[in-house]
Amino acid sequence: MYQSKIAGLGSYVPENVVTNDDLAKLMDTNDEWIQERTGIKERRHIKKGDGNTTATMGVKAAKIAIERAGISKDDIDLIVFATLSPDYYFPGGGVQVQDMLDINTCPALDVRNQCSGFIYALSVADQYIKTGMYQNVLVIGSENHSGGLDFTTRGRGVSVIFGDGAGAAVVTRSDHNGQGILSTHLHSEGKHALELSLKGPSTLHWVPEIIAENPQGDDIPYYPYMNGQFVFKNAVVRFSEVIMEGLQANGLDVKDIDMLIPHQANLRISQFIQQKFKLSDDQVYNNIQKYGNTTAASIPIALTEAWENGKIKEGDTVVLAAFGSGFTWASAIMKW
Ligand code: UT7
Repeated sequence: MYQSKIAGLGSYVPENVVTNDDLAKLMDTNDEWIQERTGIKERRHIKKGDGNTTATMGVKAAKIAIERAGISKDDIDLIVFATLSPDYYFPGGGVQVQDMLDINTCPALDVRNQCSGFIYALSVADQYIKTGMYQNVLVIGSENHSGGLDFTTRGRGVSVIFGDGAGAAVVTRSDHNGQGILSTHLHSEGKHALELSLKGPSTLHWVPEIIAENPQGDDIPYYPYMNGQFVFKNAVVRFSEVIMEGLQANGLDVKDIDMLIPHQANLRISQFIQQKFKLSDDQVYNNIQKYGNTTAASIPIALTEAWENGKIKEGDTVVLAAFGSGFTWASAIMKW
């Protein structure tokens, strides 16, 4: 059985910075509320005409990751693309990346697991490499949230949180035994599917029906809905569980964590986990202050930044953990 490791990381965020004060011009919100409840100071939004889409941002991040991995785009055996905000209803973003990177006819797989999307995608890459079927898998998480949020006061509980961006990793067969992805742990609980969801347009909520059912437009299913406090309560429990599950599977303890990269859902969630596990500031990486919650992109963006800032060194135990819509939650334990 082979082992996989991350050989190259890259990220991309749009240039357009949107501060909390900028949002306060569009809706009844304020910097104090947003920072106090979420830790977010600003986020990036695609600007009309800047050429960014979910797929193109993914490609920008991927190009950096491929270069850093020291391979050619033609060495990629599989693309795994995670997003909840694809450019098209179908086909998925993976095939767009295959085309934009001009990679032969390599397979392209889309993952629909929202905030846990990157770890689910990483797990897919890990399994293909472990079995020996593929050698290099390009994993991308990319989101264009700003294209589909309600920026009126009605949507403020959701729209202030999310930001746009992309992150990518080249996952490669590891030559050194013990270095790389040690294990991944995935879960779901679909009974809570609608607690954080976008109902339509979909086959159940098609456009003419949406309009007919909501002539006043006051209950619009084509904006995301989030039961914030319920999601928060579940998140802190599941984050803790899945981190412990991953550590225990590898005979590790919280004191062995050199770097925890939690999905950037809310700074208060990360701080809760940090306090619960008694981790120091150096052991947890957060950048939600700058980018908001970028869903499937948040872990690869944070992981890339942590690595670029020299916060991850060879031999470190790196833990990724996520929770989000589905509900789905996941962790990955890596020896860097
Ligand atoms: O990444 C996927 C997973 N997502 C998460 O983990 C998110 C989990 N949930 C959260 O992060 C928090 O629940 C939120 C940040 C979304 C909301 O914070 P909260 O402390 O749970 O606030 P709340 O929803 O209970 O709302 C409190 C008050 C309400 O007003 P009243 O009813 O007390 O008068 C809201 O209407 O805050 C109001 N409110 C706002 N006020 C100013 C809601 N959104 C805003 C806003 N600005 N943007």
